[in-house]
Parts: sequence; C-alpha cells; structure tokens
Amino acid sequence: MITTYRIAPSILSADFARLGEEVRAVIAAGADWIHFDVMDNHYVPNLTFGPMVCQALKPHAQTPEGVAVPIDVHLMISPVDALAASFAEAGADLISFHPDASAHVHRSLQAIKSKGVKAGLVFNPAESLDVLNWTLDDIDLILIMSVNPGFGGQSFIDSALRKVEQARKLIDASGRDIRLEVDGGIKVDNIRRVADAGADTFVAGSAIFGQSDYKVVFDQMRSALV
Ligand code: DX5
Ligand code: ZN
Repeated sequence: MITTYRIAPSILSADFARLGEEVRAVIAAGADWIHFDVMDNHYVPNLTFGPMVCQALKPHAQTPEGVAVPIDVHLMISPVDALAASFAEAGADLISFHPDASAHVHRSLQAIKSKGVKAGLVFNPAESLDVLNWTLDDIDLILIMSVNPGFGGQSFIDSALRKVEQARKLIDASGRDIRLEVDGGIKVDNIRRVADAGADTFVAGSAIFGQSDYKVVFDQMRSALV
C-alpha cells in the first residue's frame, strides 16, 4: 500500500498579526492541511482563537491555483458540542476533540458528522486508546498527542510512538479509511520515526514557523519521508 503523507502546519506558531498571509505562505510552501489549535483556558491552560477566526481564514486556505486546502480543527475545549457546530459552520473540514472533554463522545461524533464534516478523536500522552473499541466505525481521524496539549514548542514524548503503533494496528484491522495524525514536537529529525510507527499525517508548528524559509522545512520533511 502506498501511503500519502500529509503535513499539517499548526498556525499556533504563526505570526497572529498576519494570519491570512501566514496560511497562504505555508500553503505555497507545501502544506497539505492547515492545523487550527483551539484552546479555551479550561481544558488546557492557554487561550487561542475561535470560529470567527476560522471563518476569516477560510478564503486564505487555498492554493495559488484556487484548490481548497482542508482546515483541520483540533479542539482543546470542554464542553465540545456547541463550538464544534460553530466550527462546522465556519468552514472546518475536519474537527477533532479529546474524548475526556465530552460527556457523550458518540453523540459529539455524530453531531460533527451530521454537519458533513469529518470527525476525529485526540489522545493525550497518558491516555489509552480504549474508547476506540466503541468508536472506530464513527471516526475519520485519530490524533495522537506527542506532547501535553496547550503549547507549541515542546519536546516529543517517545512513548507516543508505541501508541501510534497500536492505533495503526486498529486502523488496519478495521479496514476503514482513517487518517493517523501525530501532534507535538515533530521536526525534520524525528518525522521519519513517527512515520515508521504508522502515522500518515504530521502536525508541525514551531519546526515550520520557526524558520524563515518554510519551503526548506517542507522539502526536508518530505525527503525524510521518502
Ligand atoms: C499543542 C498543539 C500542537 C502544537 C504543535 O497543544 O496541539 O498542534 O501547536 O506545535 P509544535 O510542533 O511546536 O510542537
Ligand atoms: Zn494540535
């Protein structure tokens, strides 16, 4: 099977004063998805942006040729449902949430999918994948956190690799088309290890936005993935 790798820059590390331009710049440099980190200062100890910013960025999330680039919304908020619906209306293409942030995980997944948006579940570093025993048929994406959620620029937690391997086995056994995304501390020098564990989609914030030439980082990441 040929894996199509996707690189999803997290705009958490972008220049917030120039977000539209930053989204266009990473897309021109090779971004496959735009990763949009939503924090509420409740589920995580930080505060970012909401559906209005997603809506404002939607017209910027396209290639220079006008091809839409998916907006991958990572909700670090509790409760989940009301804001997830607002993000669906604001143009999100995928919406993921943390199962421990929702009182009714299955209901939240159904609510997202009923809006025609792909739904995902996110797993913190110390959290098991058990909930997937009951939700695998209802999701389009598994997001494994390789840092504790809340901040960019943290170091990759190695035990996430074992969890990625476990998730890969579950996905392959299910035969379903589910993307396996990893988020936190991904750099040019570890992306290959994450792919070898079974991931196909890679979030990178500081590794991309921390460099002056974004294209150089994408090219280096893609050559590491070959
Ligand atoms: C952390 C966020 C990540 C973060 C990744 O809570 O979910 O998406 O921005 O940033 P880096 O790549 O800098 O670890
Ligand atoms: Zn994220």
